[in-house]
Amino acid sequence: MNSLLQYVDHVLISEEELQQRVRALGAQLSADYATLNPLLLCVLKGGFLFLADLTRALNIRHEIDFMAISSYGNSTESTGVVRILKDLDTDITDRHIVIVEDIIDTGSTLAYLLESLKVRQPASVRICALLTKPARRKVELQLDYVGFEIPDEFVIGYGLDYAEDYRNLPFVGVLKREAYSQG
Ligand code: IMP
Ligand code: MG
Repeated sequence: MNSLLQYVDHVLISEEELQQRVRALGAQLSADYATLNPLLLCVLKGGFLFLADLTRALNIRHEIDFMAISSYGNSTESTGVVRILKDLDTDITDRHIVIVEDIIDTGSTLAYLLESLKVRQPASVRICALLTKPARRKVELQLDYVGFEIPDEFVIGYGLDYAEDYRNLPFVGVLKREAYSQG
């Protein structure tokens, strides 16, 4: 069988819950950045659906840009290796940056990204993460905007993948253990 859903154990956050929370984050960002023309920096690939919904939930002037960073191979455990696969097009000097991330796990990806942005002298940098797994944190990070705190489980959907599959699911779900072994 080749169904996308066969390895989904259960839905952790429903489509409705996601949409409602993203709208609330959009309202909060609109208030906080009203006149600042922030740059939403989407971390690819996982952040692409979150960004798409978040940008439409903002009622203020803002710009978007993308960065691709890799901390994972096709596995569910961090390798600790971080690479910039695609850099920003935008000069961020004196700009207000909101990093739009799918999930903060150990925090090492974000810590690395923050360091590499700091040298470009932006006016400010804040983090907007859809999901966070506090139990897994190895690097201390200030998360300014968070969608949901989740338990230490490997999740997929709404941008998040396992070996590049499942990104298109409209909900966040937990993968069955057998998915790792059968690939
Ligand atoms: P960190 O550097 O350990 O915080 O890892 C962050 C990145 O790992 C995220 O941006 C995701 O791409 C990936 N990741 C961490 N946990 C999960 C998960 O449960 N499902 C899918 N991807 C994950
Ligand atoms: Mg990511």
